[in-house]
Amino acid sequence: MKFLVYLAILLSTTYSVSGQLNVPTSINLFEGKLNFTGFAQQSGYSTEEYNVTTEDGYILTIFRIPGNSSQPVYLQHGLFGCSEAFIMRGNTSIAIALADEGYDVWVGNLRGNRYARRHTKLDPDTDKDKFFDYSFQEYGYYDMAAIIDFILDKTGQEKLSAMGHSEGNTFFYVLGATRPEYNDKINIAIALGPICFLDDIPLPTSLAVDTSPIINSVLKTLDEEELIGPQSLLRQLLVDICSVPDVGYKLCFDLIGFPLVGYDAEQFEPEFEPTLLQYYFSGSSRKNLNHLAQVARSSKFAKYDYGKVKNLVVYKSLSPPEYDLSKVTMNMALIVGANDKAATVQNANRLNATLPNVVKYHIMEQPKFNHIDFIVGRDTNKFMYPVLFELLEKYNNS
Ligand SMILES: *[C@@H]1O[C@H](CO)[C@@H](O)[C@H](O)[C@H]1NC(C)=O
Ligand SMILES: *[C@@H]1O[C@H](CO)[C@@H](O)[C@H](O)[C@H]1NC(C)=O
Ligand SMILES: *[C@@H]1O[C@H](CO)[C@@H](O)[C@H](O)[C@H]1NC(C)=O
Ligand SMILES: *[C@@H]1O[C@H](CO)[C@@H](O)[C@H](O)[C@H]1NC(C)=O
Ligand SMILES: *[C@@H]1O[C@H](CO)[C@@H](O)[C@H](O)[C@H]1NC(C)=O
Repeated sequence: MKFLVYLAILLSTTYSVSGQLNVPTSINLFEGKLNFTGFAQQSGYSTEEYNVTTEDGYILTIFRIPGNSSQPVYLQHGLFGCSEAFIMRGNTSIAIALADEGYDVWVGNLRGNRYARRHTKLDPDTDKDKFFDYSFQEYGYYDMAAIIDFILDKTGQEKLSAMGHSEGNTFFYVLGATRPEYNDKINIAIALGPICFLDDIPLPTSLAVDTSPIINSVLKTLDEEELIGPQSLLRQLLVDICSVPDVGYKLCFDLIGFPLVGYDAEQFEPEFEPTLLQYYFSGSSRKNLNHLAQVARSSKFAKYDYGKVKNLVVYKSLSPPEYDLSKVTMNMALIVGANDKAATVQNANRLNATLPNVVKYHIMEQPKFNHIDFIVGRDTNKFMYPVLFELLEKYNNS
């Protein structure tokens, strides 16, 4: 079966004139794999699925495990992720643990990923340049805003609790700064592995940041606007190669993954690796990665830099405006991993010192706690959930 898929992929990509490494949407790369609903069912929960349309026309499928509707909790995945981030660890996942506590659990998906590669007018394959013209600015300003409004409308509440992992919390800062009225719609925003300022970038990520202008031009020249999307051939190759027993873990994690996120093999056993990869790579855009690289290079949390000429047109200034973080007045909890190489303690310190309303700044005690432990660490339910539950309880009952 795999062989047939590869043959079809090979033929179709050979015929693809643009050279774009995407598999036709008629081939379902997720066949036979559980989705969010499937995981929830395994843990004894049923779900609801909703389509949320953003102001600018993207259609996002989001999931809900219904609970006490006066206590909605919204979970938002980060870079390249999807809703399964919060449930792929099964019974010890955040989504299930929150459902066990009675919370009404809502899990978002962002434009372009496997649950949101849809738009009212644009086609992601034929209108690629327009469809994928977004970065964390649009994820925050449009997607997060639309999802929050949808949840509040469905539950009849005025506020919800929100939790974002990795880039999933970058949107809190974008939304709070650009649409300050949303600060009042969130009773507590919990940032797991905060991604805002990116001054401290350890190797090897710093190499990618340093070479980002070149990488960006190459991708642009090749018209690669979508990166490792749900129908990407590269994605399927990565998943398959990294899932080869023993060798896959050594190659993909010991050599590449751990240096990027921080080494913590104890919390991430080889048997679990294929699951993470299957659900992790769900698509992003060239522009989004370049925007993150710009933040790292400039030491400024600012809007997308188009270059001087286009900046003048778009922003009426030569350089992109910085986000005004003094407007992010929502109650904010920063949860930080001591060994997180992607969201370092040093970067979190600057964020803590800049945001006006950090109600909790918590550095995980485990010295090896890394960037992925927040969502898939084997014992994260014991290490971290008590901190989350305490915060949620406090801000849902005051
Ligand atoms: C998730 O999987 C279930 C069961 O296989 C299926 O009925 C449902 O349509 C899927 N949902 C999405 C959004 O793909
Ligand atoms: C997860 O929880 C469900 C419901 O309680 C249970 O049926 C299932 O056996 C549990 N799975 C594991 C792997 O423990
Ligand atoms: C969401 O949209 C998809 C694609 O149009 C459709 O298949 C699905 O049934 C919709 N789901 C809901 C809950 O409306
Ligand atoms: C639902 O949450 C509200 C608000 O915290 C609480 O007052 C109520 O008792 C909860 N209901 C149930 C059935 O737990
Ligand atoms: C976080 O910021 C607050 C307010 O500026 C400061 O009092 C506190 O010491 C900071 N915490 C850490 C660990 O730097």
